[in-house]
Amino acid sequence: MQCFPSLVLALSSLLGALALLQLSLYLRVPSRYGKHEERLCRPRGRLPARCAWFVQELPSFLVPALLLALRSPPRLEPLGCRLLCCLFCWHYFYRTFIYPFFTRGRPFPLQLLFFGTLFCVYNGFLQGYYLIYCAEYPNDWCTDIRFTSGLLLFLLGMGINIHSDLLLRQLRKPGEVTYKIPQGGLFTYVSGANYFGEIVEWFGFAIATWSLPAFTFAFFTLCCIGPRAYHHHRYYLKTFTDYPKSRKALIPFVF
Ligand SMILES: NC(=O)c1ccc[n+]([C@@H]2O[C@H](COP(=O)([O-])OP(=O)(O)OC[C@H]3O[C@@H](n4cnc5c(N)ncnc54)[C@H](OP(=O)(O)O)[C@@H]3O)[C@@H](O)[C@H]2O)c1
Repeated sequence: MQCFPSLVLALSSLLGALALLQLSLYLRVPSRYGKHEERLCRPRGRLPARCAWFVQELPSFLVPALLLALRSPPRLEPLGCRLLCCLFCWHYFYRTFIYPFFTRGRPFPLQLLFFGTLFCVYNGFLQGYYLIYCAEYPNDWCTDIRFTSGLLLFLLGMGINIHSDLLLRQLRKPGEVTYKIPQGGLFTYVSGANYFGEIVEWFGFAIATWSLPAFTFAFFTLCCIGPRAYHHHRYYLKTFTDYPKSRKALIPFVF
Protein backbone atom coordinates (compact mmCIF):
# COMPACT_ATOMS: atom_id res chain seq x y z
CA MET A 1 0.00 0.00 0.00
CA GLN A 2 1.19 3.52 -0.63
CA CYS A 3 0.15 6.98 0.47
CA PHE A 4 -2.52 8.82 -1.51
CA PRO A 5 -2.67 12.36 -0.04
CA SER A 6 -5.92 13.05 -1.93
CA LEU A 7 -7.56 10.07 -0.17
CA VAL A 8 -6.50 11.43 3.23
CA LEU A 9 -7.84 14.85 2.29
CA ALA A 10 -11.15 13.43 1.04
CA LEU A 11 -11.71 11.20 4.09
CA SER A 12 -10.75 14.03 6.49
CA SER A 13 -13.10 16.45 4.74
CA LEU A 14 -15.94 13.95 4.96
CA LEU A 15 -15.20 13.47 8.67
CA GLY A 16 -15.34 17.26 9.15
CA ALA A 17 -18.68 17.38 7.33
CA LEU A 18 -20.01 14.54 9.51
CA ALA A 19 -18.90 16.51 12.58
CA LEU A 20 -20.93 19.54 11.49
CA LEU A 21 -23.91 17.33 10.69
CA GLN A 22 -23.73 15.81 14.17
CA LEU A 23 -23.49 19.22 15.77
CA SER A 24 -26.59 20.44 13.97
CA LEU A 25 -28.49 17.23 14.84
CA TYR A 26 -27.53 16.94 18.49
CA LEU A 27 -27.49 20.55 19.63
CA ARG A 28 -31.26 20.57 20.00
CA VAL A 29 -31.98 16.90 20.67
CA PRO A 30 -29.56 14.58 22.54
CA SER A 31 -28.46 11.28 21.00
CA ARG A 32 -30.87 8.62 22.21
CA TYR A 33 -28.98 6.42 24.60
CA GLY A 34 -28.38 6.35 28.33
CA LYS A 35 -30.25 8.94 30.36
CA HIS A 36 -31.72 10.59 27.26
CA GLU A 37 -33.53 7.46 26.19
CA GLU A 38 -35.93 7.86 29.11
CA ARG A 39 -37.49 11.11 27.96
CA LEU A 40 -37.66 10.10 24.32
CA CYS A 41 -39.21 7.11 22.60
CA ARG A 42 -37.39 3.83 23.30
CA PRO A 43 -35.85 2.21 20.23
CA ARG A 44 -36.84 -1.45 19.74
CA GLY A 45 -33.58 -3.39 19.50
CA ARG A 46 -31.02 -3.08 22.25
CA LEU A 47 -27.85 -4.92 23.19
CA PRO A 48 -26.34 -5.23 26.70
CA ALA A 49 -23.97 -2.31 27.26
CA ARG A 50 -20.88 -4.48 27.72
CA CYS A 51 -21.37 -6.27 24.45
CA ALA A 52 -22.35 -3.09 22.60
CA TRP A 53 -19.31 -1.06 23.69
CA PHE A 54 -16.98 -3.95 22.86
CA VAL A 55 -18.43 -4.45 19.36
CA GLN A 56 -18.61 -0.75 18.60
CA GLU A 57 -15.08 0.17 19.68
CA LEU A 58 -13.26 -2.95 18.44
CA PRO A 59 -12.72 -1.67 14.85
CA SER A 60 -10.97 1.45 16.17
CA PHE A 61 -8.35 -0.83 17.67
CA LEU A 62 -8.41 -3.63 15.10
CA VAL A 63 -8.28 -1.64 11.84
CA PRO A 64 -5.11 0.36 12.66
CA ALA A 65 -3.54 -2.70 14.33
CA LEU A 66 -4.19 -4.74 11.16
CA LEU A 67 -2.84 -1.95 8.94
CA LEU A 68 0.25 -1.89 11.11
CA ALA A 69 0.66 -5.67 11.05
CA LEU A 70 0.18 -5.81 7.27
CA ARG A 71 2.69 -3.07 6.65
CA SER A 72 5.65 -4.28 4.72
CA PRO A 73 8.29 -4.33 6.06
CA PRO A 74 6.57 -4.88 9.45
CA ARG A 75 8.34 -2.52 11.83
CA LEU A 76 7.58 0.39 14.11
CA GLU A 77 9.28 2.98 11.93
CA PRO A 78 8.63 5.70 10.95
CA LEU A 79 7.68 7.68 14.03
CA GLY A 80 4.04 7.88 12.87
CA CYS A 81 3.67 4.14 13.50
CA ARG A 82 4.99 4.46 17.03
CA LEU A 83 2.70 7.40 17.74
CA LEU A 84 -0.22 5.42 16.45
CA CYS A 85 0.66 2.38 18.54
CA CYS A 86 1.34 4.26 21.71
CA LEU A 87 -1.48 6.78 21.71
CA PHE A 88 -4.38 5.90 19.40
CA CYS A 89 -4.24 2.12 19.85
CA TRP A 90 -3.60 2.49 23.57
CA HIS A 91 -6.81 4.51 23.99
CA TYR A 92 -8.83 2.05 21.92
CA PHE A 93 -7.31 -0.95 23.66
CA TYR A 94 -8.66 0.53 26.88
CA ARG A 95 -12.03 1.44 25.34
CA THR A 96 -12.48 -2.01 23.74
CA PHE A 97 -11.00 -4.46 26.20
CA ILE A 98 -11.29 -2.74 29.58
CA TYR A 99 -14.07 -0.12 29.66
CA PRO A 100 -16.91 -2.43 28.46
CA PHE A 101 -16.19 -5.07 31.08
CA PHE A 102 -16.71 -2.67 33.96
CA THR A 103 -19.60 -0.60 32.63
CA ARG A 104 -22.89 -0.61 34.52
CA GLY A 105 -24.73 1.16 31.74
CA ARG A 106 -28.14 0.37 30.31
CA PRO A 107 -28.56 -1.67 27.14
CA PHE A 108 -27.53 0.21 24.03
CA PRO A 109 -29.80 0.85 21.00
CA LEU A 110 -28.87 -1.32 18.00
CA GLN A 111 -29.37 1.47 15.51
CA LEU A 112 -26.80 3.71 17.24
CA LEU A 113 -24.51 0.73 17.65
CA PHE A 114 -24.58 0.15 13.89
CA PHE A 115 -23.60 3.75 13.07
CA GLY A 116 -21.05 3.86 15.90
CA THR A 117 -19.35 0.72 14.57
CA LEU A 118 -19.28 2.08 11.01
CA PHE A 119 -17.73 5.26 12.33
CA CYS A 120 -15.04 3.34 14.21
CA VAL A 121 -14.09 1.41 11.04
CA TYR A 122 -13.92 4.68 9.10
CA ASN A 123 -11.93 6.63 11.65
CA GLY A 124 -9.68 3.68 12.52
CA PHE A 125 -8.79 3.40 8.84
CA LEU A 126 -8.24 7.13 8.35
CA GLN A 127 -6.00 7.62 11.40
CA GLY A 128 -4.15 4.34 10.81
CA TYR A 129 -3.64 4.82 7.08
CA TYR A 130 -2.36 8.36 7.55
CA LEU A 131 0.05 7.59 10.39
CA ILE A 132 1.37 4.36 8.93
CA TYR A 133 1.61 5.22 5.26
CA CYS A 134 1.68 9.01 4.94
CA ALA A 135 3.02 10.78 8.02
CA GLU A 136 6.58 12.03 7.91
CA TYR A 137 8.30 13.53 10.94
CA PRO A 138 11.75 15.05 11.38
CA ASN A 139 14.15 13.01 13.51
CA ASP A 140 13.88 15.43 16.41
CA TRP A 141 10.04 15.45 16.47
CA CYS A 142 10.00 13.88 19.94
CA THR A 143 11.61 17.02 21.34
CA ASP A 144 9.37 19.39 19.36
CA ILE A 145 7.08 21.52 21.53
CA ARG A 146 4.04 20.29 19.52
CA PHE A 147 4.86 16.68 20.32
CA THR A 148 5.65 17.20 24.01
CA SER A 149 2.72 19.52 24.75
CA GLY A 150 0.34 17.32 22.72
CA LEU A 151 1.50 14.20 24.52
CA LEU A 152 1.02 15.89 27.91
CA LEU A 153 -2.49 16.99 26.94
CA PHE A 154 -3.29 13.52 25.66
CA LEU A 155 -2.18 11.89 28.92
CA LEU A 156 -3.96 14.49 31.04
CA GLY A 157 -7.18 14.07 29.03
CA MET A 158 -7.02 10.29 29.17
CA GLY A 159 -6.46 10.42 32.93
CA ILE A 160 -9.46 12.73 33.42
CA ASN A 161 -11.63 10.58 31.14
CA ILE A 162 -10.81 7.28 32.85
CA HIS A 163 -11.09 8.73 36.34
CA SER A 164 -14.43 10.41 35.56
CA ASP A 165 -15.88 7.23 34.01
CA LEU A 166 -14.77 5.41 37.16
CA LEU A 167 -16.59 7.94 39.37
CA LEU A 168 -19.76 7.48 37.28
CA ARG A 169 -19.50 3.70 37.57
CA GLN A 170 -19.17 3.92 41.34
CA LEU A 171 -22.52 5.73 41.54
CA ARG A 172 -24.26 2.41 40.87
CA LYS A 173 -24.28 -0.98 42.49
CA PRO A 174 -24.21 -3.91 40.03
CA GLY A 175 -27.65 -4.26 38.42
CA GLU A 176 -28.75 -0.72 39.32
CA VAL A 177 -29.82 1.62 36.50
CA THR A 178 -30.74 4.79 38.42
CA TYR A 179 -29.04 8.17 38.04
CA LYS A 180 -27.37 10.08 40.87
CA ILE A 181 -25.44 13.33 41.14
CA PRO A 182 -21.80 12.70 40.15
CA GLN A 183 -19.35 13.95 42.78
CA GLY A 184 -15.60 14.40 43.02
CA GLY A 185 -12.77 14.82 40.53
CA LEU A 186 -13.58 17.17 37.69
CA PHE A 187 -17.33 16.62 38.30
CA THR A 188 -16.90 19.27 40.99
CA TYR A 189 -16.67 21.77 38.13
CA VAL A 190 -18.50 20.26 35.15
CA SER A 191 -21.34 17.82 34.44
CA GLY A 192 -19.51 16.29 31.47
CA ALA A 193 -16.14 15.60 33.12
CA ASN A 194 -15.56 12.36 31.17
CA TYR A 195 -16.37 14.17 27.91
CA PHE A 196 -14.08 17.07 28.78
CA GLY A 197 -11.26 14.56 29.33
CA GLU A 198 -11.93 12.81 26.02
CA ILE A 199 -11.96 16.10 24.10
CA VAL A 200 -8.68 17.26 25.71
CA GLU A 201 -7.21 13.85 24.92
CA TRP A 202 -7.98 13.98 21.19
CA PHE A 203 -6.85 17.58 20.81
CA GLY A 204 -3.61 16.50 22.50
CA PHE A 205 -3.30 13.66 19.99
CA ALA A 206 -3.92 16.11 17.14
CA ILE A 207 -1.20 18.45 18.40
CA ALA A 208 1.26 15.59 18.98
CA THR A 209 0.73 14.16 15.50
CA TRP A 210 0.16 17.58 13.87
CA SER A 211 -2.04 15.97 11.25
CA LEU A 212 -5.24 16.89 9.42
CA PRO A 213 -7.00 13.54 10.17
CA ALA A 214 -6.28 13.87 13.89
CA PHE A 215 -7.44 17.50 14.07
CA THR A 216 -10.60 16.55 12.20
CA PHE A 217 -11.22 13.67 14.61
CA ALA A 218 -10.70 15.99 17.61
CA PHE A 219 -13.23 18.39 16.07
CA PHE A 220 -15.62 15.49 15.47
CA THR A 221 -15.29 14.45 19.12
CA LEU A 222 -16.05 17.99 20.24
CA CYS A 223 -19.15 18.14 18.01
CA CYS A 224 -20.30 14.69 19.16
CA ILE A 225 -19.90 14.80 22.93
CA GLY A 226 -19.88 18.57 23.49
CA PRO A 227 -23.66 18.81 22.91
CA ARG A 228 -24.16 15.64 24.95
CA ALA A 229 -22.42 17.26 27.93
CA TYR A 230 -24.79 20.22 27.58
CA HIS A 231 -27.85 17.90 27.53
CA HIS A 232 -26.52 15.96 30.54
CA HIS A 233 -26.18 19.26 32.39
CA ARG A 234 -29.75 20.29 31.58
CA TYR A 235 -30.98 16.83 32.60
CA TYR A 236 -29.26 17.11 36.01
CA LEU A 237 -30.58 20.63 36.63
CA LYS A 238 -34.12 19.47 35.82
CA THR A 239 -33.94 16.19 37.75
CA PHE A 240 -32.11 17.19 40.94
CA THR A 241 -33.26 20.31 42.80
CA ASP A 242 -30.06 20.17 44.88
CA TYR A 243 -27.76 20.01 41.84
CA PRO A 244 -24.74 22.32 42.40
CA LYS A 245 -25.62 25.60 40.68
CA SER A 246 -22.00 26.66 40.14
CA ARG A 247 -21.22 23.55 38.11
CA LYS A 248 -20.80 24.17 34.36
CA ALA A 249 -21.69 21.83 31.48
CA LEU A 250 -18.35 21.08 29.79
CA ILE A 251 -15.56 23.61 30.36
CA PRO A 252 -14.68 24.39 33.99
CA PHE A 253 -15.68 27.98 35.01
CA VAL A 254 -16.58 28.88 31.41
CA PHE A 255 -19.44 26.87 29.86
N1 LIG B 1 -14.76 10.13 20.91
C1 LIG B 1 -16.08 10.21 20.81
O1 LIG B 1 -16.58 10.80 19.84
C2 LIG B 1 -16.97 9.58 21.88
C3 LIG B 1 -18.35 9.45 21.63
C4 LIG B 1 -19.16 8.90 22.61
C5 LIG B 1 -18.60 8.46 23.81
N2 LIG B 1 -17.26 8.57 24.02
C6 LIG B 1 -16.68 8.15 25.32
O2 LIG B 1 -17.26 6.93 25.75
C7 LIG B 1 -17.49 6.93 27.17
C8 LIG B 1 -18.97 6.64 27.49
O3 LIG B 1 -19.77 7.61 26.83
P1 LIG B 1 -21.29 7.83 27.25
O4 LIG B 1 -21.87 8.79 26.27
O5 LIG B 1 -21.97 6.51 27.52
O6 LIG B 1 -21.07 8.58 28.68
P2 LIG B 1 -22.17 8.88 29.84
O7 LIG B 1 -23.50 9.17 29.26
O8 LIG B 1 -21.55 9.92 30.71
O9 LIG B 1 -22.28 7.48 30.62
C9 LIG B 1 -21.13 6.80 31.05
C10 LIG B 1 -21.56 5.66 31.99
O10 LIG B 1 -21.95 6.18 33.26
C11 LIG B 1 -23.34 5.92 33.52
N3 LIG B 1 -23.87 7.16 34.07
C12 LIG B 1 -23.88 8.37 33.46
N4 LIG B 1 -24.39 9.30 34.28
C13 LIG B 1 -24.71 8.67 35.44
C14 LIG B 1 -25.31 9.10 36.68
N5 LIG B 1 -25.62 10.37 36.86
N6 LIG B 1 -25.54 8.17 37.65
C15 LIG B 1 -25.19 6.88 37.44
N7 LIG B 1 -24.62 6.41 36.30
C16 LIG B 1 -24.39 7.29 35.30
C17 LIG B 1 -23.96 5.56 32.18
O11 LIG B 1 -25.06 4.70 32.36
P3 LIG B 1 -26.29 4.69 31.27
O12 LIG B 1 -25.68 4.16 30.00
O13 LIG B 1 -27.27 3.79 31.90
O14 LIG B 1 -26.74 6.11 31.12
C18 LIG B 1 -22.78 4.89 31.47
O15 LIG B 1 -22.65 3.56 31.89
C19 LIG B 1 -17.03 8.30 27.68
O16 LIG B 1 -15.76 8.20 28.23
C20 LIG B 1 -17.00 9.16 26.42
O17 LIG B 1 -16.02 10.16 26.51
C21 LIG B 1 -16.44 9.11 23.08
